[in-house]
Amino acid sequence: MIKKKNLIGLEHIDAPEIELILDTAVAMKEIVFRPIRKVPTLRGRTITNLFYEPSTRTRTSFELAAKFLNADVINISSSASSVVKGESLKDTVRTLEAMGTDIVIIRHPMAGAANLLAGWIGATVINAGDGAHEHPTQGLLDMFTVREKKGALEGLKIVIIGDILHSRVARSDIWGFLKMGAKVSVCGPATMLPAGIERTGASVYCSIDEALKDADVIIMLRIQLERQKAGLFPSLREYARLFGLNRERLSLAKKDALVMHPGPMNRGIEISGEVADSLQSVINEQVTNGVAVRMAVLYLLIGGGDA
Ligand code: CP
Repeated sequence: MIKKKNLIGLEHIDAPEIELILDTAVAMKEIVFRPIRKVPTLRGRTITNLFYEPSTRTRTSFELAAKFLNADVINISSSASSVVKGESLKDTVRTLEAMGTDIVIIRHPMAGAANLLAGWIGATVINAGDGAHEHPTQGLLDMFTVREKKGALEGLKIVIIGDILHSRVARSDIWGFLKMGAKVSVCGPATMLPAGIERTGASVYCSIDEALKDADVIIMLRIQLERQKAGLFPSLREYARLFGLNRERLSLAKKDALVMHPGPMNRGIEISGEVADSLQSVINEQVTNGVAVRMAVLYLLIGGGDA
């Protein structure tokens, strides 16, 4: 049974709850591949996607997940809402709640926004990415993909490479994989490694070649192009040379290592096109699994997960 009303992050969720979500997602994935992808589970429920930042994968997969479970879905982007007229986040979500929404799925540039919302409204809140804090459903779909491919998570060496400092995906992956018994390493330029990150239990590397040794899973992170202006690395070419995953570097990991990326990718910068499209890449499967995992999360939070 899932104990919480909201999904804000993986830091405060325990291993049996993660296991339950992943197991439920296995059943949901079967629905995703049916010719008619509709079950009545969330009929009569209303789910609102409230996005203050751009998104392709997360917003669309939450919408598909809700529709496959027969919920009604409302999509709101800040640029097309009364937010542009100055309406506050609190008034916006209270307005949505007054119209009877059961779940608010929020993406927001500010870390902590989802948690704030959860204190303001009675509806369930799901964090779809808040600043550099967490992106819990991305962490869950990453774990689901690895478990599906490798059979189990315990003991695997997971290496996360790139801009760890600004990555909410990295944080959710670190909490999630460690709770499930995997070994997690992070690697990136020293300017992009948060102080004290080793206190999470992750190992820290500045050399990608060392980090990749014996890796079972490699998670490449998007380099946020605006970081170059902030002086966190000298040039994109330099970054690609020192931290990009290419065919030669991939050979340092285990032969059957999985290559993952949450998207969107900068091909030729953090990952070569050849590696992104290689047989070891499960990047497209991550996207498919995102729908199944989000169906599981919606179901467990409001659809009868207590049963
Ligand atoms: N992985 C991810 O969050 O992608 P989007 O920004 O497209 O949702």
